[in-house]
Amino acid sequence: MEFNFSDSCLNMRSSEIRNLMKYATRPDIISFSGGMPGNSLFPTEEIDEIYNNLPIDVKRAGFQYGATIGYQPLIESVKNHLRRKGLPVEDNELIITAGSLQSINIITKIFINPGDTILTEYPCFIGATGVFQSFIANLHGIPIDKDGIIIAELDEALKKFPKAKILYLTPYFHNPAGILYSKERKKELLDYLKNKEIIMLEDDCYGDLYFDDADKELCVPMKTIDPENPVICYSSSFSKILGPGMRLGWLLARPEIIAKCELAKQSTDACSSTFTQVIANEFLSQGKMYSYIERMRVEYKNRAVTMMKCLDEFMPPEVKWVKPRGGFYIWVELPEHIDSTEVLKETMKEGAVFVIGKAFDPYDKKNNCFRLAYSHTPPEQIRKGIEIIATVIKRLL
Ligand SMILES: Cc1ncc(COP(=O)(O)O)c(C=O)c1O
Repeated sequence: MEFNFSDSCLNMRSSEIRNLMKYATRPDIISFSGGMPGNSLFPTEEIDEIYNNLPIDVKRAGFQYGATIGYQPLIESVKNHLRRKGLPVEDNELIITAGSLQSINIITKIFINPGDTILTEYPCFIGATGVFQSFIANLHGIPIDKDGIIIAELDEALKKFPKAKILYLTPYFHNPAGILYSKERKKELLDYLKNKEIIMLEDDCYGDLYFDDADKELCVPMKTIDPENPVICYSSSFSKILGPGMRLGWLLARPEIIAKCELAKQSTDACSSTFTQVIANEFLSQGKMYSYIERMRVEYKNRAVTMMKCLDEFMPPEVKWVKPRGGFYIWVELPEHIDSTEVLKETMKEGAVFVIGKAFDPYDKKNNCFRLAYSHTPPEQIRKGIEIIATVIKRLL
């Protein structure tokens, strides 16, 4: 029997990252593919202590359904966290979601009809393009440089698609490109967007993971700089600063928008896990999260530095990469004629994997680049994995 799948379903493409996860879990493979924290780094002891010390009524509440908007103590704790960043929590509302990907999903659901245009960075986080495609949006990618989205290109795009509804950005340690927006580019962008109808979705999953204190100032969200104009929906998550298995994120936006998000979430999953919300609330409100993040900054910087040293040592001069200043990724550019899928096919046989470039191309084409995640791989394995990849690239040059 031929199944009559929906247009939405037929517009979905399988995430190459998900497909590769099956290799990532093979014990003999060195994986630079998943954008995930290192398994040995999770704060298991702190969480044991938190759970064991919870009053019985709070433990029981954790097993129960909760409000769609979120577990109230967690909403308050996240608001305090966002206040510390200078975000306008008083004039906006906050909803707890099942991760930043769900925030992207419900924002798309409430604004996008099939055929509506969404502007993204080029390259763009594959999870977001997957969501946008599932709502049959028209995607248009705008190139970025080392300072952020290129305003002249954005202007061109808005001339071509004047009714574009959403501009989706990941300005702080971009996934996959690793860049951090400069202060000047953020200002230029905010000035450019003033009084325009398009809504910005500011995705800030990695902003707390800067390596050097000097960059902290650059991680100030744009919603902080200009809270009202343009309209910004601010999204972040516990995934990279506690654990993706918590499946918890949050969205801060104007009350009218959050009211619609609540409706959209109600028909999706009723509420996020109360159990993990209870735990995350204690982790955050007891201040344990801040000391944990401090430790993770040191750990991830160490992994990034190790990977860069290995790239310097093993890669041929034709290969270029972006030096990371935080987050999880190094974006590598190969000479035009080298296809990263061909590289991957070989490295997979020899024991190392990464994510090919076209996975992050909204048009599914540009493939002479790839993403290395250093976050999940212990430093002692990084050297071996990079040597494998570099040897294959030298062979294919
Ligand atoms: C830029 C970006 N946004 C959102 C997500 C999804 O995060 P979550 O686990 O909170 O859904 C990721 C995960 O890799 C990401 O890199």
